[in-house]
Amino acid sequence: MAGSKGDATSMTGMDIPSLPGGLASVLSVAGSEDATAEDVAQAIMLDPGLSTKVLRMANSAFYGRLTRAETVTEAVVTLGFSAVRTIALAASVVEHILPEKTVPGLSWQAFWKHCVSTGAAAELLLRQMTGSRRNGEVAFVAGLLHDVGKLVVARNAPTAFAACVQSARASGGASILTAETEVLGTDHSLVGAMLAEAWRIPDTIANAISSHHSDADPAELDPAVAAVRSGNIIAKLAQGSYLAGCEVTQTAADAAAAAGVAPEVIAEVLEALPERLLECEEVSSWGSALPGAPAMAA
Ligand SMILES: [Fe+2]
Ligand SMILES: [Fe+2]
Repeated sequence: MAGSKGDATSMTGMDIPSLPGGLASVLSVAGSEDATAEDVAQAIMLDPGLSTKVLRMANSAFYGRLTRAETVTEAVVTLGFSAVRTIALAASVVEHILPEKTVPGLSWQAFWKHCVSTGAAAELLLRQMTGSRRNGEVAFVAGLLHDVGKLVVARNAPTAFAACVQSARASGGASILTAETEVLGTDHSLVGAMLAEAWRIPDTIANAISSHHSDADPAELDPAVAAVRSGNIIAKLAQGSYLAGCEVTQTAADAAAAAGVAPEVIAEVLEALPERLLECEEVSSWGSALPGAPAMAA
């Protein structure tokens, strides 16, 4: 768990949660050339929360598979090792880095929706950019985790994070990044990058976390990273700000520039996004673990 013994404290005073043991073994086994699906399933099954998420994910509309996986081993076979690694990573973030407190003026549920929307938009956009479905899942998880640094900051320094949110809201919803730099002397992309390093997160996802607010030329970025940078804006255009009372100041032209694509491409992604989000129901439901979620009906 975050804050446990062995966590690294960064120069900025943030405790970066250490790589959870369960995730470490899943990543290691799934990355080994000799591993069988049973080996990977064994590693997953050591963590009941992870087992449930992997199984439910394998059977979700996101993958649209016709055959139902009944066991974790079948889920591993259905998804493939690479997908299992990215799902395990995303699920572990939800299990280990969640903030514990609500923040005035910010809905964590709207925040999670923003993360899922960024992932879905990045996946759709990358498909348009490359004409292929390759790396779609990496783009999805990179988008899902792009703001993971905010979760780390909110968990470590809830009062300072609440001050950042108030400052961003007072300036009309300008990026929370500026407020973070002023209040914390760091920002969520830097904190996220430290987590990515500590958790040995794959390069493309790590780069999306660290560069989603960069102003680098899109041609210099990995296409999946550029897709996440643009997906972050597309998600805001689609659902509005998750800061209460704030307007989104970015435009579709900004989203197009972030990915280096024509504005029509952004319009197509915006049109396809609601349908893809319906298929992301399983990942969306993970947001109910964040503070402030409505109580589940009995
Ligand atoms: Fe961000
Ligand atoms: Fe974001």
